[in-house]
Amino acid sequence: IKRVRVAHLREAKERGERWPMLTAYDQYAARIFDEVGIPVLLVGDSAANNVYGYDTTVRVSLDELLPLVAAVTRSTTRTLVVADLPFGSYEASPQQALASAVRLMKEGGAQAVKLEGGVRMKPQIEALTHAGIPVMGHIGFTPQSEHLLGGYRVQGRGEAADAVVADARAVCEAGAFAVVLEMVPGQVAKRITHELAIPTIGIGAGPECDAQVMVWQDMAGLRAGRTPRFVKQYANLHDVLADAARAYAADVTAGTFPAEEHTF
Ligand code: KIV
Ligand code: NA
Repeated sequence: IKRVRVAHLREAKERGERWPMLTAYDQYAARIFDEVGIPVLLVGDSAANNVYGYDTTVRVSLDELLPLVAAVTRSTTRTLVVADLPFGSYEASPQQALASAVRLMKEGGAQAVKLEGGVRMKPQIEALTHAGIPVMGHIGFTPQSEHLLGGYRVQGRGEAADAVVADARAVCEAGAFAVVLEMVPGQVAKRITHELAIPTIGIGAGPECDAQVMVWQDMAGLRAGRTPRFVKQYANLHDVLADAARAYAADVTAGTFPAEEHTF
């Protein structure tokens, strides 16, 4: 089976077919998502929280993301692997963006990169595209700017909608193959989805987008506690894993594991 390519995603939009995207950071999750036919996997800088235990994506570095990108590309044969450019690895200049993206592709094996920002990142998106690197945009709420934006909040409400639409146009004109819309009102996402020729990928952006993305641990309920409004849990891996660990611990303390059949 051949890998999904960016052209396939554009064709899916033309046919009106929706598609799912998930994050992945390690071998097992990546293999499973590849097997079930998730067409696009993102090695997100959300690894900051979901792998490394930081409290914000701002903290994760390119050197920390690279081994995860390599693990996911090694573990998949079908899915298109997109790697996030982390905070601090592309904002300074198109040259910086190119150097960082090249590492994600050469050392990590990524087939595309994602970066945050619309109008303000046009030069970076253009430079990468000109170098032959497929770029996924990311606009609306951009977590790497959380300190400037004042926390996790919906972007593009009321009169602010025009700025988000302008960002969407800029990303598309600069040559991006798709764009993530994070936490924007459903009506704004709908307008952008109709206007742009490239696929829109929603997270907290309503049902009108061409695609949807979720952090896999959120989708599968691995994380305990409150989840954002845009998350739907399709499993409760937190409880499955906790129950397994408790049962194992109980067996070991009781001396019932290992049993005869586990013993050489
Ligand atoms: O890093 C990430 O997980 C993301 C997606 C949720 C869009 O950027
Ligand atoms: Na991200």
